[in-house]
Amino acid sequence: MQSKLEEIKIKALENIGKAKSLEDLDELRIKYLSKKGELSLIMQGLRDVPLDLKPLIGKVANEVKGAIENAFLLKKEQLNDAVLFEMLASDNLDINLPGIKFNHGTIHPLNQVVEDIEDLFLGLGYQIKEGPEVESDLYNFEMMNMDKDHPARAMQDSFYITNDLLLRTHTSPVQARSMLEAKGKPIKIICPGKTYRRDSDDATHSHQFMQIEGLVVDKNITFAVFKNTLLQLIRHLFGEEREIRLRPSYFPFTEPSVEVDVVYYNKDGKKGYIEVCGAGMVHPNVLSMGGYDPKKFSGFAFGIGVERIAILKYGIENIRNFYLNDLRFLKQFRGK
Ligand code: DAH
Repeated sequence: MQSKLEEIKIKALENIGKAKSLEDLDELRIKYLSKKGELSLIMQGLRDVPLDLKPLIGKVANEVKGAIENAFLLKKEQLNDAVLFEMLASDNLDINLPGIKFNHGTIHPLNQVVEDIEDLFLGLGYQIKEGPEVESDLYNFEMMNMDKDHPARAMQDSFYITNDLLLRTHTSPVQARSMLEAKGKPIKIICPGKTYRRDSDDATHSHQFMQIEGLVVDKNITFAVFKNTLLQLIRHLFGEEREIRLRPSYFPFTEPSVEVDVVYYNKDGKKGYIEVCGAGMVHPNVLSMGGYDPKKFSGFAFGIGVERIAILKYGIENIRNFYLNDLRFLKQFRGK
């Protein structure tokens, strides 16, 4: 019986080696390995083997079966590969041919500035907020400490939808909204977005523009923390060596108020300043209207002009370029 098994093994391996197709191979599988195959028939004879020989014959039989099965798997793989190679060879698709080019969009330079500033403030633990562009007089002006007759409203003439609804003139109303939403808890937010003013468009003015509002409210927020945040912002944007100058200013919603100027040197090495942001310590009235006790809480706020930063950063001569959708302009800002 042992020799019969060996014989089957030799024959089977030989035939498997010779198989030319998957069909041939399948026939051989039936011949040798199926329930009624040669190997099974011999294994059935195992019943009649004397007891002391059973372990030995059994072992040989298993080895033979294992060897045949392995040979099958190996051959099957070879035949499958052969089929694949044949298909590839007969297929005349050249995968090296260049494909059809299509144009990638680019991130708009203003949004590149916004994303850059968002990166910085996210890293400092701020949340990013949004607010409506159609805003109520209440949030846009009154809660920003500009009641109906406040003269500062004159600087922010806008597009009115009704007497009480207008296109927001700044992102500051998000301060009021965030305070009411936070219900007395500390706040650290920035809010980028579009803003609108009735303005005559020229090279440096546009009736639509972008701002990024910032607001921090907590206990013990000092002017030093405020100034350091502004310095970090400017250095993030314009390099670690940059200096800033805070110039006293006036906004109804902050006290004290400042304009943030960035120091620069012109071609002749002369020192100059460019204003990039209005800011200040949050006015006590704004804090109380937002639900905070100004005796316990303090805060600072800033409003960054996104176009201004982009103009400075990229040396752009006319603000209109940002809005014209001229690809010759926009393509220059591919991959910042
Ligand atoms: N909202 C002001 C404007 O559009 C800018 C501004 C100034 C925002 C001071 C602030 C601030 O948050 O504290 O002119």
